[in-house]
Amino acid sequence: MINKPIYDELQGKFRAHFGRYPEAVAYAPGRVEVLGNHTDYNEGFVLSAAIDLGTFFAVAKNASMTCRLVAGDLMREVTFHAEDVAPASSDTWQNYVNGTFAGLAALKFPAHGFDAMFLGNVPLGSGLSSSAALEMSAGLALAKLYGIATDAVMLAKIGQKAEHEYAGCKCGLLDQISSLAGQPNKLIKTDFRRLAYETIGMGPDACFLVCDTRAKHTLADGAYNRLRESCETAAAHFASVLRHPVTALRDVSMAEWAVYRHGLPVDVADRAAHPIGENERVLKGVKLLAEGDLAGFGALMFDSHESSRVLFGNSCDELDAVVEAAKKIPGVLGARLSGGGFGGSVVALVHSRDAEIASAALSSATPCDIRVIKPAAGACLAELGMRN
Ligand code: GLA
Repeated sequence: MINKPIYDELQGKFRAHFGRYPEAVAYAPGRVEVLGNHTDYNEGFVLSAAIDLGTFFAVAKNASMTCRLVAGDLMREVTFHAEDVAPASSDTWQNYVNGTFAGLAALKFPAHGFDAMFLGNVPLGSGLSSSAALEMSAGLALAKLYGIATDAVMLAKIGQKAEHEYAGCKCGLLDQISSLAGQPNKLIKTDFRRLAYETIGMGPDACFLVCDTRAKHTLADGAYNRLRESCETAAAHFASVLRHPVTALRDVSMAEWAVYRHGLPVDVADRAAHPIGENERVLKGVKLLAEGDLAGFGALMFDSHESSRVLFGNSCDELDAVVEAAKKIPGVLGARLSGGGFGGSVVALVHSRDAEIASAALSSATPCDIRVIKPAAGACLAELGMRN
């Protein structure tokens, strides 16, 4: 089992705190976004991967209508009534669970409350989707506890709704789908219009350095939502000037952008160019991977970061410094910011044989925390076995 020591610690803490065994335990990982930045809510394409860091969520029924939730790292408990769930303004970590519970409760009315605890190792605010790991582990475990039938897209949408209505971030579905659909050594290619995903190989000899800049990103502060609004404004403009149907920036090519961008304020036009270019890069990247051209794929990652930095405005000095340093390190094939931006992590592509040396060189060049990762398995229920 992946991250077994965390599972064992959670089991021990759960029994000590609640005096009983959990009835369902689920695990969900964080993710890296490899190519396709801010394309998910523009109905485009993304290449991502689940990582080997994640969250376990353990839960058992209780005899009341009270839902008890403990953050296992802080050993702090919050409670809410199963029939009266609302966004919380303190201990805001609970919103990812409360919102997920509310989404499930809309499918099947809860007949009882629960005792739950979660514990994980996805660093917070690092752009690796600790929040989706919590939502998806809670979603899987609570669905099991309440006997609610779900599928991956339903669960992902429930997590997204929790982000929108409880955490205040108008995110797309990338983080939740990546957490659910990960497979060892595979990238996930998702088409966010069809909400369909497939896994693709990236060759046996490729892995990633995930470089946490320690610049904390918070997406709920409005910057992410404002970028999304610019994309929607731009899509409405292109819909009014192009002859073919445009429901999202997915429907606009770079060539069309170049001809029709003048009807938009310069900053909105620049913002729109980023997801449009990213979409084209993802499709190109998929072809390069199929041809085994990792260097070509890496070059697209550098282009992606440049587009974030210059056009979309979602980079920051710390992210730029890591990408610039990475360009000078032999063996680094590509590097870019991963996820929402404004801080968090850079993901760099390397051949596995170069990973340790490149990682050492990068960490002496910049003050970031580096982890070598291979794409890992997605979310699952844990087998509880003989009293665990
Ligand atoms: C965050 C959001 C995702 C996606 C990325 C950027 O991770 O939660 O939905 O928009 O940013 O690609």
